[in-house]
Amino acid sequence: MYKTHTCGELSSKHVGATVKLAGWVHRYRDHGGILFFDLRDRFGIVQIVIDPESLPQHYKLAEQVRSEWVIQIEGVVRARPAGSENPNMATGAIEVMAKSLKVLSPSKPLPFLVNKEEAVDENLRLKYRYLDLRTERMVRNLTIRHRFVKFIRDYLDNKGFLEIETPILFKTTPEGARDYLVPSRVYPGQFYALPQSPQQLKQLLQVAGIERYFQIARCFRDEDQRGDRQPEFTQLDIEMSFVHREDVMNLVEGMFTEFVQQYLPEKRMLQTPWPRLTYDEAMARFGKDNPDLRFGLELKDVTDLCGNTGFKVFDQAAGMGNQVRGINAKGLGYYSRKQIDELNAFALQHGAKGLAYLAISEEGEQRSSFSKFLTPGAQEKLLGRMEAENGDLLLFVADKPAVVFDVLGRLRVQFGDLLNLADPNLLAFCWVIDFPWLVWLEDEKRWDPSHHLFTAPVEEDLPMLEEHPGKMRGQQYDLVLNNYEVGGGSIRIHDSALQEKVFKLIGLEPEVSRERFGHILEAFEYGVPPHGGIAPGIDRLCMIFTGEPNIREVIAFPKNQAARDVMSDAPSAALPDQLRDLHLKVIED
Ligand code: AMO
Ligand code: AMP
Repeated sequence: MYKTHTCGELSSKHVGATVKLAGWVHRYRDHGGILFFDLRDRFGIVQIVIDPESLPQHYKLAEQVRSEWVIQIEGVVRARPAGSENPNMATGAIEVMAKSLKVLSPSKPLPFLVNKEEAVDENLRLKYRYLDLRTERMVRNLTIRHRFVKFIRDYLDNKGFLEIETPILFKTTPEGARDYLVPSRVYPGQFYALPQSPQQLKQLLQVAGIERYFQIARCFRDEDQRGDRQPEFTQLDIEMSFVHREDVMNLVEGMFTEFVQQYLPEKRMLQTPWPRLTYDEAMARFGKDNPDLRFGLELKDVTDLCGNTGFKVFDQAAGMGNQVRGINAKGLGYYSRKQIDELNAFALQHGAKGLAYLAISEEGEQRSSFSKFLTPGAQEKLLGRMEAENGDLLLFVADKPAVVFDVLGRLRVQFGDLLNLADPNLLAFCWVIDFPWLVWLEDEKRWDPSHHLFTAPVEEDLPMLEEHPGKMRGQQYDLVLNNYEVGGGSIRIHDSALQEKVFKLIGLEPEVSRERFGHILEAFEYGVPPHGGIAPGIDRLCMIFTGEPNIREVIAFPKNQAARDVMSDAPSAALPDQLRDLHLKVIED
């Protein structure tokens, strides 16, 4: 037996006990001949005392021990001498007097310290991820992630769900990204696609009569990397039969609320039950469909005030059916011309034609790029609508709704950060519903599903299918938490005729849809229960639960921001023999 106890579990009640411990030397100190080791294992840290008198035969060895060596000791637990207790340490009331010491494995000096929080280049951390994972921060993150997944499994098991694994080697399941392909050795020129999600399979499990399915599912998407995206990531994938939207939403809301209450005592939920916003409302108030509800600074529509304000930019926009909206950046009325120019450049970069501003000093003096054009009446109305006070900075964009929302939505998030308006301990969950079912792809001149191919439209909108498909709403719902989309789902189409119409509507030729999705269309001819589901993203949720800035911090071995595994150096070239076996030739660009 290497250890009788873990380092973290020892306390005053063990005083007098002889214990065996094993772990890493977190820190060592030499106090005039007496050595102190902080010994660490995953469960905590305990102080070991090595006195030349009580440990004569191992003292020389002990003097050679350095940080991160793996050692084993046997010793006696004693209360720390009065005055030397450490209240900041869970085991700070006691220490262990070593009677014997064994070195299990020495260590080279580490490329960075793991015994204190310091800024380390992320690629260095990822190259030595096995060392980085020794830090308290990473152990905590992996522990919260484990707790969450374990909680989910127990919760859903209690509700009659079956956890079922689905294949990784499969056929394309589009979710809007590129596929990762795996060439087949046995079938020259043919490829498996790694699933972007288990979407088709979980629906087929409903045809199979499973009724309540879930999986902690790995998904693969080849898309541009961002802080909240990885090429492979994990979803809690859920699908249920004989359900309406409410049933799926209530299940998830109940589950996550209980988790937060049980395991995240420092977090507070902004609102329960979770608010529901329609897509239109989310866009109008926040400029984005994954709004951060922890703070205000809502966008205000002033289009109706335009038309005869006197300012051409606004009046023309109103005339062309465009919009004019503004945001009140509370308290930023002191912004210099240069700072405002920077905001203007940001707006231009995101497609706006300009950013009109009106800055009001604490004394009520105004500076503005456009107020000289405004009629006095228009100015008053505008200030009223924007709830402007002395010290505020008002910013306006006139454009097509998509541009107005995008630019002001981004500015709102920036100001929220800058003004520290978003309390990190608040969890603002909300549902966004009633999305448009389709989006028009101008470049390709065709409709595309706004969620995915299998999402059902709202039933009462079906009569518009032939004439006005763009006006139809989808039966989908997004779960949003603090500025992130953390889950998406929908009620599905369960009628093969409608499914086929959707394939046609989005421009898939019948042969192509048969080739790609024939198995689904065929399955739908054998008695299909109405069904729906959702897939919350485990990585994004854990990122927010742990207060981390990106999902790499809650994944044991993530890819870096350039989609590389810098520890193993993947992707890497294949051997010529492997390529030959796979019937592949690499073409240099
Ligand atoms: P969707 O594509 O909306 O839906 O994805 C669901 C959730 O998965 C997470 N997510 C990601 N997390 C990390 N890295 C990524 N690259 C990434 N992409 C998505 C997000 C997102 O909300 N099959 C449907 C679900 C369904 O209809 O039931 C689907 O995958 O948190
Ligand atoms: P101009 O008349 O082009 O000098 O513009 C006057 C002000 O209006 C400048 O501050 C511009 O940035 C701003 N502006 C121009 N076009 C727009 C627009 N579409 N939306 C908001 N502000 C604009």
